[in-house]
Amino acid sequence: MGSVRWAFRCGSWTPSRSDWLLAARCIQPEEKDRIGQFVFTKDAKSAMAGRLLLRRFVCEKMGIPWSEIRLERSPRGKPYLAAPLKVSSDSGPAWSFNLSHQGDYAVLAAEQGMQVGVDIMKTTMPGSSSVPEFFRIMTRQFTAYEWSIIQSAGSEHQQLAAFYRHWALKESFIKAIGTGLGFNLQRVEFHLPTEPLTQPRALRQTKMHLDEEQEEDWIFEPPPSSLPPPSTFTLLSFSELVASASPLTEEDSAYWESFKMKAEAPSRQSDADTST
Ligand code: COA
Ligand code: MG
Repeated sequence: MGSVRWAFRCGSWTPSRSDWLLAARCIQPEEKDRIGQFVFTKDAKSAMAGRLLLRRFVCEKMGIPWSEIRLERSPRGKPYLAAPLKVSSDSGPAWSFNLSHQGDYAVLAAEQGMQVGVDIMKTTMPGSSSVPEFFRIMTRQFTAYEWSIIQSAGSEHQQLAAFYRHWALKESFIKAIGTGLGFNLQRVEFHLPTEPLTQPRALRQTKMHLDEEQEEDWIFEPPPSSLPPPSTFTLLSFSELVASASPLTEEDSAYWESFKMKAEAPSRQSDADTST
């Protein structure tokens, strides 16, 4: 049964004019327009990488020529393959795929015969509040048990790491079922292994309780950064990302002009303070 884990480092990607224009030609026009509207290049690059990861996956693993791929979104925003409708059945059970982009990476996970959701979170200090205040605002996202684990993790940084790990677990489940924010997050509760993630045995020992019952049908895998190399994710270069791509639209040089004018990311107030 097929399984795919790909990652692209969009954070350190500094696309040349020809890279960016080629990428823009190889995605659907409505997605090109959506990406063109981002204010910061960090968001435009990660969304672009996401589109290319999706199309590369459908092309290479599902065997559909790039130009025939038509991706659409569910009413809640989850991308799916809308056309071609008939995918050869000799290639085995249906594929499920999902994307996440945050911090420096865009990642794609896909599974054949299983529903998949993926989420990545970079452990960062909250922008404008203290860690305890940030946790207070987030109270309703986790159960009392989950908070007890997060808050007993050690230093503030370790508590944040535990917080984001629980967060990504919840999000990955919500993204697998596709419901988005409509789901009451108190219904799912995660029980993490006590062994360090570097132990192979710990890999699949995270358990989810749904409405207070342990679920046996879902498997939770930790992110590659927690794993010893070689990690489960294959890191792709830009040329690998577009290796099977074929342009769908004409070159649009204004698209580069507009990208080039954007700032990488919002400047944080704290950065501004230290520079004065
Ligand atoms: N289900 C599954 N995947 C979805 C989706 C849905 N309903 N809607 C969008 N996606 C996919 C898309 O490919 C999207 O990328 P794209 O728009 O560039 O194509 C990608 O997921 C975004 O995932 P990620 O990078 O992990 O973003 P996110 O974590 O900010 O958003 C949502 C994920 C949209 C599914 C939604 O759950 C959300 O907004 N969650 C964040 C808020 C929250 O409170 N979470 C609590 C967790 S404790
Ligand atoms: Mg996310």
